Amino acid sequence: MIAALAKDRVIGTGHGGIPWRLPRDSRHFREYTQGHHMLLGRKTFEEMGGWFTTQTPIVLTRREDYEAEGAVVAHTVSAAIAIAGKAGEEELVVSGGASVYREALPYADELVLTLVDAEVEGEARFPDYEAAGDWEEVSREEIAKDEENEYDMVFLTLQRKR
Ligand SMILES: NC(=O)c1ccc[n+]([C@@H]2O[C@H](COP(=O)([O-])OP(=O)(O)OC[C@H]3O[C@@H](n4cnc5c(N)ncnc54)[C@H](OP(=O)(O)O)[C@@H]3O)[C@@H](O)[C@H]2O)c1
Repeated sequence: MIAALAKDRVIGTGHGGIPWRLPRDSRHFREYTQGHHMLLGRKTFEEMGGWFTTQTPIVLTRREDYEAEGAVVAHTVSAAIAIAGKAGEEELVVSGGASVYREALPYADELVLTLVDAEVEGEARFPDYEAAGDWEEVSREEIAKDEENEYDMVFLTLQRKR
């Protein structure tokens, strides 16, 4: 799973949009997902219209008749994992939003988190991953804010301890 979290694990306003401007993180997200299948909730997928280049979006929805150009539709997380597996992927990159992170966390082996040093108002939250398993930190990179990136951030990779 890949996500950017502000303090209190806020990931978004809850009514469309992410409340910060961090092009360094946007680049990190694009590079990580390049060429891969991504799992997205229907709301996040629609928010990201036009963003996909080499990525294959799998859209999670309960709507039986949902169709989206350039995307594959799935109705469960396990179905999405199977679709990515059949396409030869070794991992499915779960890319939000809040409800999809919640659904997919029990399946997740690795968390690629950007911890954003910001207190922001938002209703969408990443689940309490620390309470949901034991994680080992495998990499950490600290990035200071600058004229383009308005907050300090940490790129953190955690792997589930088995
Ligand atoms: N900071 C970050 O890294 C990051 C990343 C991504 C998103 N976000 C933010 O997250 C927020 C959106 O999160 P959200 O929770 O409101 O929406 P979401 O997870 O993007 O989409 C919710 C939709 O996904 C479908 N869905 C969810 N669980 C399902 C299940 N178990 N089975 C089948 N379909 C399911 C449903 O679609 P239907 O209604 O079509 O049935 C549901 O309405 C936005 O603010 C966005 O900007 C932040």
